[in-house]
Amino acid sequence: MSRHFLSGAELDRATLGRLLERAQELKAAPARSHALAEKAIALIFERPSTRTRVSFEVGIVELGGHPVVLRADELQLARGESVRDTALVLSRQVAAIGLRSGSDQALAELAQHASVPVFNMLTPREHPCQALADLLTIKEACGRLEGLRLAYVGDATNVARSLVRLGVLAGMEVALASPPGFALSPDEARGLAEQMRAGAGCGRLVEVALHSDPRAAAAGANVLYTDVWVSMGDEESAAARRRALEPYRIDDALLDLGADGAFALHCLPAHPGEEITAEVLYGERQRIWEQAENRRHAQKALLEWLLEAW
Ligand code: CP
Ligand code: NVA
Repeated sequence: MSRHFLSGAELDRATLGRLLERAQELKAAPARSHALAEKAIALIFERPSTRTRVSFEVGIVELGGHPVVLRADELQLARGESVRDTALVLSRQVAAIGLRSGSDQALAELAQHASVPVFNMLTPREHPCQALADLLTIKEACGRLEGLRLAYVGDATNVARSLVRLGVLAGMEVALASPPGFALSPDEARGLAEQMRAGAGCGRLVEVALHSDPRAAAAGANVLYTDVWVSMGDEESAAARRRALEPYRIDDALLDLGADGAFALHCLPAHPGEEITAEVLYGERQRIWEQAENRRHAQKALLEWLLEAW
């Protein structure tokens, strides 16, 4: 059975810790590993991407491999070939397959039928590669993850869900603040934490706190995180989202409520003036651009793990 990385539930706490350590090693010495020598990796994009595409492509080259970037509209998938047949064919050419899709079901089908590792490059529900880079950024800044408080403010997106999963796995306290209609339900939050409980082993497992007031989530937080108000695929409800999410913005006043040295993260792309102010996005109280760079380092470690290089 191949390893997959579909939601992050595939990891246990020790593996997550090793992935982050390895990412730090590879960041310090980018050419250290040739784990993908003579291997090709397929990267399928059904939706636009800047960071995910470039960080995977460059990271694969740094590991000695060959990225095969495929836009879904260029594949026979666009003309009705099944995900199953695509999985069977690609598995005979490449060592692993990444997918960014508007369908979680398509990702599950790909993983079911591929005989090589499959990894999630963003679906409507999950964005676990982003969360790996997020935790790497926090660990670099704070020296640890366990016991830190992470506040997520805004729409309960794929990014929020993946942060909850990996944050809980790492032993972080995760507080979310979202408006009604754009929040995780208590059942879903509990379910995500529960799914990660087995992997968290005997380490401290903190429940996820749900708030509607962003100030309640931000109070005492070490890290404040936000994502766009209108995700890919949510364009039809853009006006309602902008109305409901107006009070959910990271600005200096919200950061002032955090712990000493609290900083902002954002998965990007950002909309300054909506979910984050330009002052924070381009100021001193953020690690957002480092976070974007860290996509590459974290994903190189992930690819090594997926291909069982360690
Ligand atoms: N954060 C992120 O995944 O960015 P892209 O959509 O540009 O890949
Ligand atoms: N929630 C956003 C993340 C973009 C990286 C989206 O899905 O569009």
